[in-house]
Amino acid sequence: MIFSDMKIFTTIPEINDYIVRCKQDGISIGFVPTMGALHSGHISLIERAKRENSLVGCSIFVNPIQFNKKEDLEKYPRTFDEDVIKLTDVGCDFLFNPSVDEMYPGTVTEKYDFGFLDTVMEGEHRPGHFNGVAVIVRKLFEIFRPEKAYFGMKDYQQLCVIQTMTAMLGLPVEIIPCPTVRESDGLAMSSRNVRLSPEARKIAPEIYHILSEAQNRRHSMSVFELENWAIQEFGKFQEFDVEYFKITDSKTLRPFSDWSEVKSAIACTAVFLGGVRLIDNLIIF
Ligand code: PAF
Repeated sequence: MIFSDMKIFTTIPEINDYIVRCKQDGISIGFVPTMGALHSGHISLIERAKRENSLVGCSIFVNPIQFNKKEDLEKYPRTFDEDVIKLTDVGCDFLFNPSVDEMYPGTVTEKYDFGFLDTVMEGEHRPGHFNGVAVIVRKLFEIFRPEKAYFGMKDYQQLCVIQTMTAMLGLPVEIIPCPTVRESDGLAMSSRNVRLSPEARKIAPEIYHILSEAQNRRHSMSVFELENWAIQEFGKFQEFDVEYFKITDSKTLRPFSDWSEVKSAIACTAVFLGGVRLIDNLIIF
């Protein structure tokens, strides 16, 4: 049992009462949705939300419908007590931690069409993932009724999907993209990092090194050459199993062949390292 000053709600009616009172008092709400196992990346989102809103609310909910593999859902780290301490320390005002039955009392039938966005990279390799993300984020937006919601750029494609959903449905919330927070050796912070073995953790920063080196090489290589170069670099470490390394238009996530075709490009990658799936990305220009 842990004690915290932060308000913790587990049911929709409870949090709803609280939000209704905040709204009546004209209080602005910043929202940080999470699946828990909080790290400094999440904390930086809460800190920013605190600077920009009167109250900050966070959700911790491991959303089963965004996992396309049962094993991945089961292995997802759960550290609720530590999370509550971190949220209390950073001054988060309220937390919503519902059960699966609370969020999904019936069968989920909602289907979104994100067109091209859902057919590449994470969409291609994790079928149904973004629909699951969209369903829960929309539900949470309806509950929190935030003025602003904060999303890390490590999950860049998720950010694009959420921006698209918000625009498609005309939801009255501003989506705030926040820079990826990295460990001092460059590894992007992720809840999954705790699952890396000490050996895997040692070579994990290579993901960022390869992305950074790709950024440096963009003047001397074509898009095609650069993607192949990066895949070969990962290949030098037998521990990596590359799912994809793609350079795309950072706005549409569409592929292109000549650098002159786009205003801004992003390199996105997903790799398996000792059985743990890690994603990262870097804006090339
Ligand atoms: O990025 C995450 O942690 C999750 O996808 C989110 C946005 C909390 C939805 O479950």
